[in-house]
Amino acid sequence: MWHSRRAGGLPKGPAVGPGGGAGAWRSRRGRRRLAALTVVCALALSTLVAGGVFAADSGDSQLRTTRAAADPSIERRIDGLLSRMTLDEKLQQLALLADFQATDDAVRKGAGSVFGVTDPARINQLQHIAVEQTRLHIPVLFAFDTIHGFRTIFPIPLAEASSFDPGVAATDFRIGARESAAVGLKQIYSPMVDISHEPRWGRIAEGAGEDPFLGSVMAAARVRAAQGGDYSAADKVATSPKHFAAYGQPEGGRDYNTTDMSEQRLRNLYLPPFKAAVDAGADTAMCSFNAINGVPGCANSHTETDILKREWGFDGFIESDYTAVAELRACPPKNPNEGPCGHGVAADGKDAARLALNAGTDSEMVSTNFVDFGKQLVDEGLVSMARIDDAVRRILRVKFRAGLFKNPFVDVSQVAAKTMTPADVAAERNAAARSMVLLKNDNQTLPLDPGKSVAVIGPLGNDQHDMLGPWWGVGRDTDAVTLFDGIKAQDPNTTFAEGCKILDRDPPDPPNDECGSDAGFDEAVATAQAADQVVLALGETRGESGEAESRSNIDLPGKQQELIDRIKATGKPFVVVLFNGRPLTLDKVDASAPAILEAWFPGIQAGNAAADVLFGKVSPGGKLPVTFPHSVGQVPIYYNHEPTGRPCDPTFKWNSRYRDLPTCDPLYEFGYGLSYTTFQLSNLKLSSHTMPADGRITATVDVKNTGARGGDEVVQLYLHDPVASISQPVRRLRGFQRVTLDPGQTRTVTFTLDASDVGFYDNSGRFVVEPGTIDLFAGDRSSGGLTDSFTVVGSRTR
Ligand code: NOJ
Repeated sequence: MWHSRRAGGLPKGPAVGPGGGAGAWRSRRGRRRLAALTVVCALALSTLVAGGVFAADSGDSQLRTTRAAADPSIERRIDGLLSRMTLDEKLQQLALLADFQATDDAVRKGAGSVFGVTDPARINQLQHIAVEQTRLHIPVLFAFDTIHGFRTIFPIPLAEASSFDPGVAATDFRIGARESAAVGLKQIYSPMVDISHEPRWGRIAEGAGEDPFLGSVMAAARVRAAQGGDYSAADKVATSPKHFAAYGQPEGGRDYNTTDMSEQRLRNLYLPPFKAAVDAGADTAMCSFNAINGVPGCANSHTETDILKREWGFDGFIESDYTAVAELRACPPKNPNEGPCGHGVAADGKDAARLALNAGTDSEMVSTNFVDFGKQLVDEGLVSMARIDDAVRRILRVKFRAGLFKNPFVDVSQVAAKTMTPADVAAERNAAARSMVLLKNDNQTLPLDPGKSVAVIGPLGNDQHDMLGPWWGVGRDTDAVTLFDGIKAQDPNTTFAEGCKILDRDPPDPPNDECGSDAGFDEAVATAQAADQVVLALGETRGESGEAESRSNIDLPGKQQELIDRIKATGKPFVVVLFNGRPLTLDKVDASAPAILEAWFPGIQAGNAAADVLFGKVSPGGKLPVTFPHSVGQVPIYYNHEPTGRPCDPTFKWNSRYRDLPTCDPLYEFGYGLSYTTFQLSNLKLSSHTMPADGRITATVDVKNTGARGGDEVVQLYLHDPVASISQPVRRLRGFQRVTLDPGQTRTVTFTLDASDVGFYDNSGRFVVEPGTIDLFAGDRSSGGLTDSFTVVGSRTR
C-alpha cells in the first residue's frame, strides 16, 4: 500500500538559501569574549547534563566560533624544537601507527602518533620510551575511535541526531572523552560528521543524517563536550571531525566509492558540519578515502589547504585515513609493490607522499610513505622543508595543547573510578530513550500496559551484542541490557521466543543466515498466543552497519517480514521495535504492524530505555534525521532537494517521477516522529517582515500540548528562497527546539535569523546573500506547517 506519513506536499517553487556556512559571519566576533563565553556555556551545559538531565537547545547557540588563537609561548617552544630536529626526526613525527605497528622500537625511533592501543599500562609504557629514550623527549599522541562512547556505549550517532537535542550528543562525548583520557588517549577520531543521502551506505549510522544544519549543531556540541575550553584537562581530548570531505555521498552507496559534485553542493550540504566543528575548536581532522571530482581526499589541496587551513583558519593537523596515502597509487601498486591498490593519481609511494604532503595532509596513518620517501622528496625539491616544518608544527601544537609535554602519563589506578559510573549508565539510558522515534501508533497500541503479560519475540529480542551498534569502542556485550531483560524488569510477566536467528557474517561466508529459517516461527506464535501483548524485536545486526557494510537492498533482512505476518495473524496487539543503523524500506512493516518504534542501536541501556518508552515512562519525542524511502529505487531521496522545472507529479507523464511508483514522497520524511500526546503550533510571528542583509530578525511560534499526557515536541523552522541566482533547495532547516510540555501547557519558541541563514554558497565558493523574498515554515516535520515570509533588503558577498 502506498501512502506517506507526510502532512502535505512540498511547495512547487524553488526554495531556501542554505546559510551552510554555519556561523560564517558570526565568526568575526572577539575571540577572547567568545573563549570566556565557551567556558561559561560548557560549564552550564555540563551542569545541565550531569545525571542525565538534558538541555533543550535551539541549535543556533552551538554555532558560534570559539577557536582559540595560537599561544605565543607554545609557538616559541615549537620553534625551539624544530630548530633542533633532524629531518628524520621530523618525518617520524608525521608517522601515525596502528596498534599492531606500535612496537617499543617504532616508538624509540620517534613515531609521532599511535592509534588503537587502549590499555593504559601499555600506553604508559610506550610513553615512557618516547619521553625518556628519544633524543628530544617528544611524547606520543595516542588516539582512538571513540565514536559513540569508549566503554559506556551510547546510541549510534544517527540515533542521537534523532533526539534533536545537542545535549544528548554532548553527554555522550563528555563521558566518552573522560573515559578515553583516563587511559591515556588524547585524540579521538570523532565526531564523524559526514552528511549522507545514502541509506545503502553502512556508515550513515555514524553521522547525523542528511541535514547540514542539524549535522552542524550536533558536530559542534560533540566537539565542545569532548575538548572543553582546554583539552589538556585530565578528562578532555582533541577531536577529529571526519571524513574530509563528502565521504557520505559515495556513488551507488558503496563504501569508499568515488564522488562527483559541484562546488556549491560541496559547500552548502557537506562542509557545514566540518566548519561548525572547526569553529567549535576541533584541532585535528581526518582526510577521506574517497575522491571528489577525481581528486582523493588526502591529496586534495582545495579542501585541505585552501578551505580547511586557509579559509577556515584551522591550525591543527590533518591525519590521513587508514592507508589512504598509499591508496593514491595506481593498481597494481608500485614502490612498494604491495599494499592497497589505489586511485591512480600517483605513480608510486614516493609520488603519493609528495601529493599528500603538498595537498596539506600532515600525518600518515598506517602506510609509511612520508617516512620512507620524505628525505628523497626534500632533497629533490619536490616537497619543501617549509611544508615539512609546517606539518610537524601542527602536530606538536596539538601535543602541547593536549598537555602531553607536562603530563605524559596516566594514573592507572584511577581508570576504573572514571569509567562507566552509575551516573554514566543513567545518562546513557536517558539518551537512548530520547533518541527513539515513534513511527506509527494506530489505536493507541502504545504505551503498553505493564499490568498485562508481554511476549518478546524476534532475533534481536534477547541480544546484547547488537545493541552496541557499529564502533563499540571497548564496550562489552555483557554491559548491554537486552530488550527482554528491560521489559521483564518493568513487567515480570514477560516471556521470550527468538523466532529466527540473525547472524553476523562477513565475506567469504555467505550473508544468507539473517533470519533465513522459519523453523522457530511456530514456537514464536505459541509464545505470542499465550501473552496479552507482543513486542517484536527486529532489524539488522550491528555488523550490517558501519564501515564496509553497504547494502543494495534495505528491506528487513531475511524472513523477518514473514515473522511479522505470522504474529499479526494471532490477532494480538503488537509493536515492532527496530534495531538498525540506516533507514530501511518499511512499506510492508508499516502496512502490517499497528505500532513501530525506531530504536536504532541504543547502546548499553538498550532494553531499559526501550522499556521506558514502550510502557510510557518516557513519551517518545525523537524525529527522523534522515528520510525513509518507500523503495530503494528512490535513493537518493532527501527533504532539502533542489527543485526542477518539472516537479514530481505521479499523475502526469512529463514530470520528474518514477513510472512504477504512485507517489513522489518517501514513507517517512525528515523531521517526522510521533508522540503519545498531541501538539498544536500557532501564532507564527516575525519581529519584522524585512531583514537587512547584515541584520537579523526573530521568528516566534507557540507550541501547545493538546493531549492528555506530558510529552516532547521538536519545533522545526525551515526556510525557502523562491528566486535565487542558483536554484535553492525546496526547504532548509535553520532552527529547531525540543520542548517538554505538560498537558495543556503552551510555550513560545524563538528563533533568530541572520545572513548565515538566508545566504548560500555559489559555484565559485562565495557565500552570498541576495535580496528578495524568503518563505518561512514552522512545523513538526519537514512538510506542511505554518507559513510566513519576509524580504531580505540589500546583498552581501564574502
Ligand atoms: C578507517 C575509518 O574510515 C576511519 O573512520 C577510522 O578512524 C580509521 N579507520 C581508524 O580506525
